[in-house]
Amino acid sequence: MRGVEGLVSEVEALKRRLRAVILAHNYQLPEVQDIADFVGDSLGLARKAVESGADVIVFAGVSFMAEMAAVLNPDKVVLHPNPCAGCPLANYLSPQRVREVRSEIPNTPIVLYVNSLTRAKVEADYVVTSASAAKLISRLGEEVVVFGPDRNLADHVSTVTGKHVLPLPPHGHCPVHEYLLNEYYVAKALAENPGAKLIAHPETPRKVRAIAHAIGSTSQMLEKIKGINGKVILATEEGLTYRARKLYPSRAKEIIPANPLAVCVDMKKITLMDVLRSLKLMKHRVRVDPEVARRAREVIERSLEIIK
Ligand code: 13P
Ligand code: SF4
Repeated sequence: MRGVEGLVSEVEALKRRLRAVILAHNYQLPEVQDIADFVGDSLGLARKAVESGADVIVFAGVSFMAEMAAVLNPDKVVLHPNPCAGCPLANYLSPQRVREVRSEIPNTPIVLYVNSLTRAKVEADYVVTSASAAKLISRLGEEVVVFGPDRNLADHVSTVTGKHVLPLPPHGHCPVHEYLLNEYYVAKALAENPGAKLIAHPETPRKVRAIAHAIGSTSQMLEKIKGINGKVILATEEGLTYRARKLYPSRAKEIIPANPLAVCVDMKKITLMDVLRSLKLMKHRVRVDPEVARRAREVIERSLEIIK
């Protein structure tokens, strides 16, 4: 049986031969993060997908992220190593529901979180990531905005911008952040680590965000750690802890996951073997209907124009 080194050198050789690039989300398994050319948050990954001169993009993340890469790169081959890796949050909002809300309140802008179905995104006015949501919404002229499908991010944006943000649907949430990173786990981690600074993802519930030293996307959370010495508690999926410890190996920082059991099983469905198989068999090709992709690009480009 091949060891990890054997798999890694096969992946490296195939990558060179196919002029491929591997993009991985901050929650991916350590073995996948280590083989990636770029590891980042949703916004950083979308940007890298556009900038990379590669012919083939292997996208190690959940399916909406791989679809975004395909939408933004219609002429490239985008591969998703495991198409079973979806995002339960994205499934809270159907395109039909977005259309209904559009006709119920036609003059209210509809902003969707990137963690949504591609067919829902094309019905929206704007698409944002956790890194850009507050910035984009603060720049809109309207004081009332529809935002979905994450109710916690909607609440965070409302707090930051002072605008009236209507969550669509009212109950959409990420199960990892809602149930495994709630006030119970966070209070426990803080009690066990007196003096630690808490950094939270905006998908966490309000009571967690209320006591956080800083709030941001996964890459913004990594950036915040830079300025802190001592203990830092990360209230997000546990994969970010691996990334943070790798980026900041100094003993001056002790990086602690708020709950080591806060695992996104979908993000963890992609293994090193899946990445290798993906390159070997050129599977699974991410295909988005060209008309849907064209409309999605329009929404994304309009959104990027506002936040640039
Ligand atoms: P980021 O864009 O902050 O990396 O978040 C993606 C995500 O799925 C959070 O659960
Ligand atoms: Fe979706 Fe939550 Fe997993 Fe992020 S952590 S991909 S929002 S289920």
